[in-house]
Amino acid sequence: MSLAFISLEAVRCLENAELALHPERNLVWGPNGSGKTSILEALFLLGRGRSFRTRNTERVIRQGKPQLTVFGRTAAPETTLGLQAVRGSATVAKVGGAFVSSLAELSQVFPVQVIDPGVHKLVEEGSARRRRWMDWAVFHVEHGFVDVWSRYHRALRQRNAALRAEPGQAPAWDPELAQLGEALAESRRRGLDQLQPYWREATHALMGRDVELLYSQGWARDSTLLGALHASRTRDSARGVTHAGPHRADVHLRLDGLPAREVASRGQQKLIAVAMILSQLDMLRERFATVPTLLLDDPAAELDSPHLAAFIEQVLRLKCQLVSTSLSPHPAMFSAPDRVFHVEQGRVRPV
Ligand SMILES: Nc1ncnc2c1ncn2[C@@H]1O[C@H](COP(=O)(O)OP(=O)(O)O)[C@@H](O)[C@H]1O
Ligand SMILES: [Mg+2]
Repeated sequence: MSLAFISLEAVRCLENAELALHPERNLVWGPNGSGKTSILEALFLLGRGRSFRTRNTERVIRQGKPQLTVFGRTAAPETTLGLQAVRGSATVAKVGGAFVSSLAELSQVFPVQVIDPGVHKLVEEGSARRRRWMDWAVFHVEHGFVDVWSRYHRALRQRNAALRAEPGQAPAWDPELAQLGEALAESRRRGLDQLQPYWREATHALMGRDVELLYSQGWARDSTLLGALHASRTRDSARGVTHAGPHRADVHLRLDGLPAREVASRGQQKLIAVAMILSQLDMLRERFATVPTLLLDDPAAELDSPHLAAFIEQVLRLKCQLVSTSLSPHPAMFSAPDRVFHVEQGRVRPV
């Protein structure tokens, strides 16, 4: 599966653009501020329904315009997909001409992942990014996952609302929350277990060493979720939030037994984050025949040449569709890209 074509309108500095993509290596080059990352942002929006640069999609809409639109077509099987974000309203999307009920449906048609200069945040920042990272892969592996995920979060919102309005009613949500939460946590556990061999390979190839990746389910390991919800009732009522459950899950990354976010250098954090992403892509390709598109924004940033060489080798090994940006028409990343686009002042043209 790859994206054959994308057209976009009013995405950041890009007024409109059309790109006929190659199924393998695409290069987008141009000077700083020309709109390269914005093209990747449009591609990511199409597969994820959100940007990788901001949580607020409105920021991506071109200044002075009421809305942005992105349209795409995948190859083999051919499917059309489209997304529209209008200022002040919810983002809507279509797959095969029909509106989707959840933006997560885009992901099934166009799986896409990104490695950008902010990728180290996956290691350094809070657990929400790592949960999204886990869930994206599990979503592609287990078909019922999105449904369980949405029902869990709906029940959680209701329990939290009850905790604030009428704490006595909150326990009424516990059995449902516990059942969905245990299922969600089990899916994540299976996903991470399956990932481990790919993770070991990626960390060894990129860093030449072991990095531990440990799953933390979001409540005490020796307790059921129902038990944990019961045990934290007093605290939950006092704070008006639910403290136990998979919404608190995380993956702990450890170097020599110590948290990577504390002991790893920025460069090492970047390599660990890259290993997280590449190992997932490797697993999806090998075990589930899903070959996502990988967006690489300025991939050479902050990597010295031996690490960059290892990174390039690992990326090319995946044999997935690549869309990479660069300031130069001849980046170290690809000696021979299959298709080249030049961007200047928000205008894109094939070379
Ligand atoms: N919502 C917006 N509307 C119009 N222009 C924007 C918007 N957001 C960012 N920009 C402009 O887009 C340009 C950034 O494009 P970007 O894709 O990041 O460039 P590149 O990756 O080539 O350096 C900047 O000049 C920025 O000021
Ligand atoms: Mg950029």
